[in-house]
Amino acid sequence: MRIDIVSIFPDYLAPLELSLAGKARQSGLLEIAVHDLREWTGGRHRTVDDTPYGGGAGMVMKPEPWAAALEALVRPDGSSRIVLPTPSGAPFTQAMAHELSGAGHLVFACGRYEGIDQRVIEYAAELGSVREISLGDYVLNGGEVAALAITEAVVRLVPGFMGNAESLVEESHQAGLLEYPVYTKPATWRGREVPPVLLGGNHAAIAAWRTEQALRRTAERRPDLAHPSRVEGAEELRLATPSDAGELLTLQRACWVTEQQANPDVSIPPLHEDLEDVRAWLGEWTVFVLRRAGRLVGAVRARLDGEAWEIGRLMVAPDLQGQGLGRRLLEYAEAAAPGEATSYRLVTGAGSTDNLRRYRRAGYRRDGAVADGLVRLTKPVG
Ligand code: ADE
Repeated sequence: MRIDIVSIFPDYLAPLELSLAGKARQSGLLEIAVHDLREWTGGRHRTVDDTPYGGGAGMVMKPEPWAAALEALVRPDGSSRIVLPTPSGAPFTQAMAHELSGAGHLVFACGRYEGIDQRVIEYAAELGSVREISLGDYVLNGGEVAALAITEAVVRLVPGFMGNAESLVEESHQAGLLEYPVYTKPATWRGREVPPVLLGGNHAAIAAWRTEQALRRTAERRPDLAHPSRVEGAEELRLATPSDAGELLTLQRACWVTEQQANPDVSIPPLHEDLEDVRAWLGEWTVFVLRRAGRLVGAVRARLDGEAWEIGRLMVAPDLQGQGLGRRLLEYAEAAAPGEATSYRLVTGAGSTDNLRRYRRAGYRRDGAVADGLVRLTKPVG
C-alpha cells in the first residue's frame, strides 16, 4: 500500500516513523510520503490561503495549490482513494478502516484554517474516489491528527502488517461492541482480584464472561451501539397481559421462520395468525413474557388438557438465541403446572432437529403421535 499525505505542516506527520506504520515501512509493505503543500505554490510568498467569499471569520485554502498537488499524486487510472479529513465528514469507523485497508493507494489532503475551497473537493472526485472523514464531533486545528489516526487504524488491517493476527480475529468476533476488560499477572494486586473465571481453563466460560462484559460496557457507555436488551440483568418475566399482543405477534412471526424452513410442508399457525388470533389465545392460555430492558424478547404459553400440561409457543428473539433463555422459559412454564398435571406435553416439527435435541436434553421423549409432519413430545411431571 502507498500513502501520500499533503499538509502545510509536514513535521506534524513525523510520528508515522515511530508507530506500527513505521515498522511496516521498514518491512517494505508500506510506502508513505509526506508532502508540503507549499511545493505546489507559485510566487515568493508561497500563499496557501485567502479570505472567504461572502465574508466570515478565518481563511480558506486556495484551490490552485491543492489542484496541482492532487494532479501530481493521484494515480491517473482513477484507483486512488482521496481522503479529506474534515469535521463535516462522515464519522470514522472500523468499517471504514477496513474499506480503506483494501485500497492500494491513499492520498490524504490535510486542510487547515476554515477548510479547503469546495471546488477542490469536487475536482478531486473527478480524479479518484473521495472520502470526507471526521474523527469525531469536535474541531481540531487541521486534518493532520486525523490523518495520523486514520493511517494507524487502516495500516494495522492490511494483511501482513499486524504481528498478532489473532488479535484481529478476536476483534472481529466482538464486532460492534466495546472491548471486554483485560488482566495480567499478578492474580492479586493491592487487594484486587482478577475475576476467578479467567483463572480457570474453561474456555467456553471465559468467552461467555467476556461477551457479557463487552455487552454490559457497550450498553453503559455506548447505548447507540448495543441495545440494552442484549445485556443480562434488567430482566423481567411475568404473566402476559392483553397489551402484550402486538409485540407477541411480531415476535412469533420472527421466531417461526426458521421452523418453516426446516418443515417446508407444514402449515405453521404462528406465521399465519393475526392480532385478533393472538388476543384470543392470550385469554385462553397461561402466557409468560420475558422482557429485557423493556423489550419483549421471549414468551411461552401453557394450559391444562386432561392431565397433560400442554406447553407451546416457546419463542426467543432470533438475536438472543443460544443463551439459554428458551431453556429458562421452558422450566418456568413447567414450574407453573397445576397439581393435577401428570405430564408435560409439547409439539414441534418432525424436521426441527435443533428443537428435538433441546427438548430431548430437557427430558422430553417422543410419545409416538405424529401428525402432519409434527412430533408430540412428553415428559412426566416430577
Ligand atoms: N479537522 C478539523 N477537525 C477535524 C475532525 N474532527 N476530524 C477530521 N478532520 C478535522
